[in-house]
Amino acid sequence: MKIRYDLKPRSARRGEPFRPEGPLPFGQLRTDHMFLMDFADGAWSDPRIVPYGPFLLAPGAVVLHYSQEIFEGAKAFQHPDGEIYAFRIDKNAARMNRSAEGLCMPPVPPADQVQAILALLDVERLWFPEQEGASLYVRPFMIATQDSLGVKPSNRYLFCVFLSPSGPYYPAGFQEPVKLLVTRRFHRAAPGGTGAMKTGGNYAASLMAGEVAHKLGASQVLYLDTADRYIEEAGAMNHYHVTRDGRLVIPSFTDTILRSVTSESVLELGQEVLGLRVGQERIPFEPFLAALRSGEIIEAGGFGTAAVVSPVGAYVFEDGTELRVGDGRIGPNTRRIYEILTGIQRGTRPAPPGWLFQAPRQA
Ligand SMILES: Cc1ncc(COP(=O)(O)O)c(C=O)c1O
Repeated sequence: MKIRYDLKPRSARRGEPFRPEGPLPFGQLRTDHMFLMDFADGAWSDPRIVPYGPFLLAPGAVVLHYSQEIFEGAKAFQHPDGEIYAFRIDKNAARMNRSAEGLCMPPVPPADQVQAILALLDVERLWFPEQEGASLYVRPFMIATQDSLGVKPSNRYLFCVFLSPSGPYYPAGFQEPVKLLVTRRFHRAAPGGTGAMKTGGNYAASLMAGEVAHKLGASQVLYLDTADRYIEEAGAMNHYHVTRDGRLVIPSFTDTILRSVTSESVLELGQEVLGLRVGQERIPFEPFLAALRSGEIIEAGGFGTAAVVSPVGAYVFEDGTELRVGDGRIGPNTRRIYEILTGIQRGTRPAPPGWLFQAPRQA
């Protein structure tokens, strides 16, 4: 793919590294440029890196009415060698295309997605925040742009990637475990639906549940399946637990659970690196609670790009009662997994082959 560059004459960061003064929020800041590419007449065209700014979009664009939209989230880091490396973006590209298929959208060749991200990271390398726990968050997405009110797939699309220089997801650091609300009132995904796809509609539909969770002091909802029998995942991360006999268990990926790149990485690292037997199975909810009460489950949490690992200190129920995980503090296994994953991402630990993508110096 030949990318056209239309760069700002004076980027905010030419020649000067980004040293934010205060703590950097997660996902709020933007860099100077974005990657764009159009789809029409059955083909992608005009891949380009242009100044970051608003789109011109018809009010009747399909995405604005029927949410034909998909997105991804990944992270890139500056390593001690001064180069920028993106973490497992081939996995994100593959998931993007699985989501595209489910939403009747055209795939973007995975190599082009990877190239687009790396080219943009190259242009914006000086935006990497020189701050503890920081990253460049990468947000690829695709929207349906045809001006049409028929409920059918659009014939035009826009693919975009932009970056957000971000501080750690939990500004207080890896200190405080979160709480998850367990409720039978809301469900995230139904069999045969879009739960395994990363599409905006899933997240719009989860906002109310998230608000209820916040009111009860929880950060997210832990969703059960629609029959309220099995643990599925949280609003923006997969779920895991660790048993006293040294197993780490993630619920099996079904068509109602997003296949998390972070979870897949934990599963691939496996026992040799993590010192735990890792695996997936369906987790019936009531026995899970019983195992928490008996102390058989000693740690639990969530895996996802944004936070990497979110330790769960307690589950909250709608009547306000809580069930603690272990002693309610961050357990040693959770801490070790966090340190191993972030060490690989930041280049202070060796990465398995193929996990890191270096942004080539081109622009
Ligand atoms: C619903 C949901 N599950 C799980 C995850 C974690 O996936 P990943 O590790 O690929 O970020 C996310 C975030 O991307 C998510 O939105």
